[in-house]
Amino acid sequence: MKEIKILDKNFREMIPESIVTKRIGELAVMINNDYSGKEAIFLGILDGAFLFAAELYKRIDILSRISFVKLASYQGTRTTGTVRELIGLNEDITGKEIVVIEDVADTGHTLNMIIDELRKRKAGKVRIATLLYKPDSFQYKDTVKPDYVGFEIDNNFVVGHGLDYNGYGRNLPAIYTLI
Ligand code: IMP
Ligand code: MG
Repeated sequence: MKEIKILDKNFREMIPESIVTKRIGELAVMINNDYSGKEAIFLGILDGAFLFAAELYKRIDILSRISFVKLASYQGTRTTGTVRELIGLNEDITGKEIVVIEDVADTGHTLNMIIDELRKRKAGKVRIATLLYKPDSFQYKDTVKPDYVGFEIDNNFVVGHGLDYNGYGRNLPAIYTLI
């Protein structure tokens, strides 16, 4: 098994590139079927989902557009807590069908916040495509459902294919798990 080192940590290859690519193709087929004859807006969540979004989107053949959004964190001026705001989505999405593209659904906080915001903006049906899903960590099973899941994985830290460790490792074509 291939092992690599990033900064101070060692990782072992968990999902080879060929398997990742094949699975992304399968997800695209499902989405193309589900949205056949409809229009959708794809919404990639930066930074982690950029690679998955590109590979998925080039296989999408329905009428669609893609945008990228980011959850920016800042210290609230009135409260002491950290406020997170969705930036990059400037168009009117009222009634529009949305496919959110995420790299990994871990606790689900990110997806929950994004879904919440899309509801506030009166989006139509929202579905979620995520390359990885950690069901043992996910806290929103009753309300947020990942519709298109590449791989269900254990609750371990992973890198590669867009996912990073302190900014490094996003360029690795395979997915690696922390040893
Ligand atoms: P969540 O809000 O806990 O579901 O996860 C939010 C974000 O944390 C994801 O979009 C990733 O960017 C990052 N993340 C979660 N798990 C991992 C991991 O195993 N490796 C790298 N990044 C991760
Ligand atoms: Mg992310």
